[in-house]
Amino acid sequence: MIYLDNAATTWPKPEAVYVEMDSFFRNYGANPGRAGHKMAAHAGRKVYEVREAVAEFFGAQDSSEIIFTTSTTHSLNLGIKGVVKVGDHIITSSLEHNSVIRPLKELEKEGVIELSIVELDESGDLDLEMLKKSIKVETKMIVVSHGSNVTGHLFDLKKIGQVAKDNKVLFMVDAAQTAGVFPINLSELNVDLMAFAGHKSLYGPPGTGGLFIRKGTEVKPIFAGGTGSKSEELYQPEVWPEKYESGTANSIGIAGLGEGIKFIKNEGLDKIRAHEMSLCQSFMNGLVEIENVKIYGPGVEKPRTPVVSFNIGEESSSEVGYILDQVFDIAVRSGLHCAPLTHQTIGTLQQGVVRASFGYFNTQTEINQAVIAIRQIADKVS
Ligand SMILES: Cc1ncc(COP(=O)(O)O)c(C=O)c1O
Repeated sequence: MIYLDNAATTWPKPEAVYVEMDSFFRNYGANPGRAGHKMAAHAGRKVYEVREAVAEFFGAQDSSEIIFTTSTTHSLNLGIKGVVKVGDHIITSSLEHNSVIRPLKELEKEGVIELSIVELDESGDLDLEMLKKSIKVETKMIVVSHGSNVTGHLFDLKKIGQVAKDNKVLFMVDAAQTAGVFPINLSELNVDLMAFAGHKSLYGPPGTGGLFIRKGTEVKPIFAGGTGSKSEELYQPEVWPEKYESGTANSIGIAGLGEGIKFIKNEGLDKIRAHEMSLCQSFMNGLVEIENVKIYGPGVEKPRTPVVSFNIGEESSSEVGYILDQVFDIAVRSGLHCAPLTHQTIGTLQQGVVRASFGYFNTQTEINQAVIAIRQIADKVS
């Protein structure tokens, strides 16, 4: 099997992730932070250590600014619903995943917020002039993804953060597609909230994710419940990160995430990105040579993520994905990718797209085989 669906979740994981999760589960599977016995204390210490590692990885000043969640979707819901108040105006982009768009649309439908959606400019970047013009007195927050899961567009967090800062509005980033591939230094960026996946390019298991909340940002928890701290109080404690982490933590997953981050640090973020971008470039160069293949998103010369969406003529993207899987044993994602506005923007709401996304464990040989397979399918359908 050639796995080219790393934008959904990376696979395989580094060996150390499997080993750590198995051993941690067997030996320290107690509830972290809920009891004084040795096993619970060890589990709690592990969660703390990984929180510190995540904070350091992203340049957060204080590890209590890192909230563990189950997924990017959970983090985005916490960030969005925790921040907005009745009458707020929120700005987002036309390239967002449903985990941004749906909470916002729901709030808009309920009459809680007003929503503006900024399009791309002619060069294919987020239209910063339109962004600036969209800001008004009621604007509370700008929420955009760092990297698109469909087109591979990469947004400039420095520039957007500056617009947010100049206008005194909050800036929230969906880093699902970039955390673990692109350097993100929160000490240098004007980012107030950042949602990330543990299970994608940070190489942790499914069920892990996180939200960075910069100290001083007012965010209401969306859950209340047991935190293992201030047990005598009837109200949710104010202390971070517990304020946002009610319920038993996914300590086994978090232990795995810790190993994923160690792996990235040992290999080197730049080396990982260079490898993935080289595969991406080679794949795009291969597809460009095939007559009836259309590639969406920025060209190889532009800043982009290692995600390539394409179609073969008018052929249904689902059919192409099915053939790649069944005939060539190549796993891609096809159809619509939880981002209807993105498909609208690139004109693929009907056809969908075939998406190949690359991870550190993919090889050049696999990319060559994938290009050959796509050429064979294209030859047949033309
Ligand atoms: C840009 C983007 N945002 C959010 C998500 C949701 O991530 P999760 O599956 O961790 O909830 C994804 C998932 O693919 C994504 O690509």
